Amino acid sequence: MMLDDVQALARVDQHDTRRVLAELPRQCRQARELRATPPIAVARPRLVVMVGMGGSAAGADLLATCAAETLEVPILVHRGYGLPAAAGREALVIASSYSGETAEVVSAVEVALARRVPVVAITSGGALSALATRHQLPCVALPPGLMPRMALGLLVFPALGALAAAGVAVASDRDVDEALEVVTTQAAHLGPDTLTDKNEAKRLALAIGQRLPAVYGGPLTGTVAYRWKTDLEENAKLLAVAGAVPEMNHNEIEVWRGAGARQLHAVLLREDGEPSEIASRFTLVREMLGPTAGGVSEAWARGRSRFARLLSLVYLGQWVSYYAAMLRETDPWPVPMLTEVKRRLGAPGREQPRASP
Ligand code: F6R
Repeated sequence: MMLDDVQALARVDQHDTRRVLAELPRQCRQARELRATPPIAVARPRLVVMVGMGGSAAGADLLATCAAETLEVPILVHRGYGLPAAAGREALVIASSYSGETAEVVSAVEVALARRVPVVAITSGGALSALATRHQLPCVALPPGLMPRMALGLLVFPALGALAAAGVAVASDRDVDEALEVVTTQAAHLGPDTLTDKNEAKRLALAIGQRLPAVYGGPLTGTVAYRWKTDLEENAKLLAVAGAVPEMNHNEIEVWRGAGARQLHAVLLREDGEPSEIASRFTLVREMLGPTAGGVSEAWARGRSRFARLLSLVYLGQWVSYYAAMLRETDPWPVPMLTEVKRRLGAPGREQPRASP
């Protein structure tokens, strides 16, 4: 079995992505201690707009989803240039760009400055850091050298801290402690040294095989489904589909009776204590897709708190995309098309592998 052959993995995984993934718990602990300079001193906002693209937006999705059920302050995740019209002076903008060179995020901060909306920046450097320094914006300085999508901990925890400093507590210390325990346990079971029969991520990657993955969450795990899709695309260079129940019942489900359904593999992202109406929809989806789909798998969130559950599912998806890359003999680290887009658009190209694994 290739996935259990650590040397074979090392030949494909030339940038040691497996080590970066295995170190996520440590990255999260380190990130939890990071603080903005100058410190954040803002009134509690009426609206939070979290700005970021790609890997730097994924943490924002996770926090917005955590907040949706419990907080009266809405958190919008904005992927794009500028800012939505709703972002006025009573809002808070949290601008995340791991490289600091992402044009959309820089443009959002420029609009925020023009509108006098308070901004917190989270970045390892680049134009965003320079802008923050010039305007004395609170900025969390991240250690450089990772691919943004693999800096999940560095992006999530400072944003969580920034929200708390602004009076918008998305997860309690207890929730965070639990999430760290959960990912630590996962790290011990999902890495290459754990053989396939005991390794959920390897088994899921093998179950998907050469088929096109369609990842479906529930109302809360739907954003994680999107993160699975983007990890599969960036790491394994494999097109994936993401959706959520119940919405997919109203449209996408039709695809699964079609001639191409055998080429698709559904992965359902589940959690204990789902509302009963969601649980019964998942049961129905399984029953209806089963006979025609290439395959249907389930992945269950770990932990009790919403934060731990979402983080655990994201982490599992990172490993699944890693093994999917290995099955395609693809180095998960480089993203040549994305790098080329940025180069052609004139970005300074800090999207580079770290100096040495
Ligand atoms: C690359 C990756 C991308 C970047 C995106 C934005 O590893 O994950 O999706 O996150 O191109 O760049 P940053 O995160 O530097 O703002």
